[in-house]
Amino acid sequence: VSKMNARVVRAQAGATVANLGPGFDVLGLSLGMPVDVVEAEAVDNGGVAIVAIDGDEGGLSHDPLTNCVGVAARAVLDRFGPRGAGVRLRLQKGLPLGSGLGSSAASSVAAAVATASLWCPEVSRLELLDACREGERLATGVPHPDNVAASLLGGVVLCLPGEGEEVEVIRLPVPQDLWAICACPDLVVHTADARDVLPAEVPRQDAVRNLASVAGVVAALWRNDLELLGRCLEDRLATPYRRGLITGFDEVMAAARRAGAIGGGISGSGPSLFALAAGQSAATAAAQAMVQAFSEAGVEAWSVSRPVDTVGATVTRIG
Ligand code: HSE
Repeated sequence: VSKMNARVVRAQAGATVANLGPGFDVLGLSLGMPVDVVEAEAVDNGGVAIVAIDGDEGGLSHDPLTNCVGVAARAVLDRFGPRGAGVRLRLQKGLPLGSGLGSSAASSVAAAVATASLWCPEVSRLELLDACREGERLATGVPHPDNVAASLLGGVVLCLPGEGEEVEVIRLPVPQDLWAICACPDLVVHTADARDVLPAEVPRQDAVRNLASVAGVVAALWRNDLELLGRCLEDRLATPYRRGLITGFDEVMAAARRAGAIGGGISGSGPSLFALAAGQSAATAAAQAMVQAFSEAGVEAWSVSRPVDTVGATVTRIG
């Protein structure tokens, strides 16, 4: 209890593009907006409580055992908190649920970062990753790290699997004029369902193609080569099986390219689609074209378009 250095903090964590095309469960990019905000108040009864949730249209549980903010906060306290450390959490959802923007990840990260900032500020961001993944495990059934790592750290991350569930995260360089666009249709796809449609085995030529593409993405980021990056975004592990869940997939991706995007694909498990572009004007044009193409396919959509976020989750002390 003596470690407590503030009573109330507010943390925010933003939207992410998991997979970044070919990097199924291993690459993630931080879009940074919209954000989920978690306000955490330190209490010394050892408990985790969720006292308010706004912006979820009543869709989320207030039970800390069945809401990823409660689970992530608990995981931080269990791993790093002093005896008796507890939190009361308020969650403000800015991310839509089931959108492919990493909604559960943003909530988990904001909760973990807020809780750590109250009780164990010496713990590094990277050390919080596994606690954030517990929120993801609850929400999706699998503690996949790509959304949480990008939301926590910002930038583009590579998640290297180790023994068992261990993951090592490597931050990759982000080219200065790299913009990311997400077009978010008025559809809901739950990650667990989008994982269920994936086959247990894929043709070897598809696996080989993805190996080359992921290596190409990493090389392109190091070389600051957006043309190469655009050529390496195609995915053959998940997209062929998920595209059918997203009305307008082909038309929206074609529209993004025609408007000047370098490439794109499904954001996480969808239904949002992402594109990358060199600079603001191509990004703005691509965003408009993607929303328009969704609309022509009969689905309303909105978009976010911004330079790749390189900051990650942030904390403000409010008391
Ligand atoms: N890598 C995960 C998937 C991300 O594609 O299922 C889910 O947001």
